[in-house]
This record gives sequence, C-alpha cells and structure tokens, in this order.
Amino acid sequence: EGVHVVDHPLVQHKLTLMRTDSRSTKGFRQLLNEIGMLLCYEVTRDLPTELVDIETPLQPMKAPMIAGKKLVFAPILRAGVGFLDGMLDLVPSARVAHIGLYRDPETLQAVEYYFKAPSDLADRLTIVMDPMLATANSAVAAIDRLKARGAKDIRFVCLLAAPEGIKRLRDAHPEVTIWTAAVDSHLNDHGYIVPGLGDAGDRMFG
Ligand code: PRP
Repeated sequence: EGVHVVDHPLVQHKLTLMRTDSRSTKGFRQLLNEIGMLLCYEVTRDLPTELVDIETPLQPMKAPMIAGKKLVFAPILRAGVGFLDGMLDLVPSARVAHIGLYRDPETLQAVEYYFKAPSDLADRLTIVMDPMLATANSAVAAIDRLKARGAKDIRFVCLLAAPEGIKRLRDAHPEVTIWTAAVDSHLNDHGYIVPGLGDAGDRMFG
C-alpha cells in the first residue's frame, strides 16, 4: 500500500551491478543515472494528459500532452543528485529544488545545510529523490520542508529502502507514494541498509 517496487528486469540487473563491491565510481554513477531514467518512467506513468490541437503534415488532429504545470525534481544532496541527470533526460523542462541534508552519524538525525526551491511549489507535482531510504529521517525532513513551502502533491523515489524507513515515511506522510527498486532486509546499528550497497554518496563522489 503506497509503495511501488519497480521489478523491471533492467532495473533489477542494474541494481545488482551497483551492489557489487568492486564497481568503480564511474560505473556506479553511470548505473544510478540509468536507473534514474527508468524510475522516472515509472513514477510518471499515471500523469494526467489532455488533448491539444496540432497539425500533422497531413491533417489537424487532437493529440495528448501532459497536463498541468512543469514537474519539480527535488534531489536530496548529495546522493540524490545521482538520479537527477537521468530524470532530466526524460523530462528536460522540469524545475529543480536542491535539498542539502546530512545524517548525523551518532544520532542519525537529518541536518539541513542548503535549501533552494522554485517559489511556486503549490501547484506542481514534486518528485523527491534519494537513492537510500534508511531511517527515513532525511526523506521526512525534506518533505516537511517542501510542504512548509507549499508543496501538496509529492512522490518519493529511491533505489533501496529498508522496511523501517518505509514505515516511518508512510506514518509521517501517508499521502506520499514511494517508488523503489528494492526493499532490503533491515538496518544495522549504524543505520545502514543491509545487505544494501554501502554509502551511496561516498561510492558516487568519494
Ligand atoms: C545518506 C543517503 C540518504 C540518507 C539516508 O546520506 O544518501 O540521504 O543517508 O538515510 P536516512 O533515511 O536514515 O535519513 P548522507 O547523510 O550519508 O549524506 P550524503 O548523501 O551527502 O553522503
């Protein structure tokens, strides 16, 4: 309920390549970008369209276009940035909100260090993205912040989720649907997803 696991073979194959310990920084980044594109395809699957009048070289016709205002992509820094290029390849006119959060290693609480979003969030669909949904402290803080700025229609996309994080995000923001490539076993004592893929930010940026 409220959670879509994207089990497309291309996504699953690429995720397995990403989990592999020997994957290079370059390979990891490229795969995250590719999966970002595929997840973008899924998260936008039910967007409403409207018929508009166009003219083909042969005759006029009514043809579907996505209705409403441009989407907002909201990557949670740093690792969320790894999804952004792939998403923008599919939706080049999307707006972007940058949300800088780091997780305090002791308390696992999310600490904000940057926030810059388009001013008119209220009438746009906002897609929050972060490869890892661990405790969900980061996701909940990001969505709290976006809601305070007027966002009402929000979806969350990640690569890997822990059951604990899904529960926490669903409890805190029940109307925010989640798309993920996999739900792993559990969180370890340091708040890492197990088996997971390690620290996505470090594997991508060093
Ligand atoms: C990691 C990860 C998520 C967050 C997930 O970020 O990229 O943003 O932790 O954990 P949570 O669900 O428990 O909040 P980190 O703080 O390591 O920052 P980074 O992306 O800049 O490396």
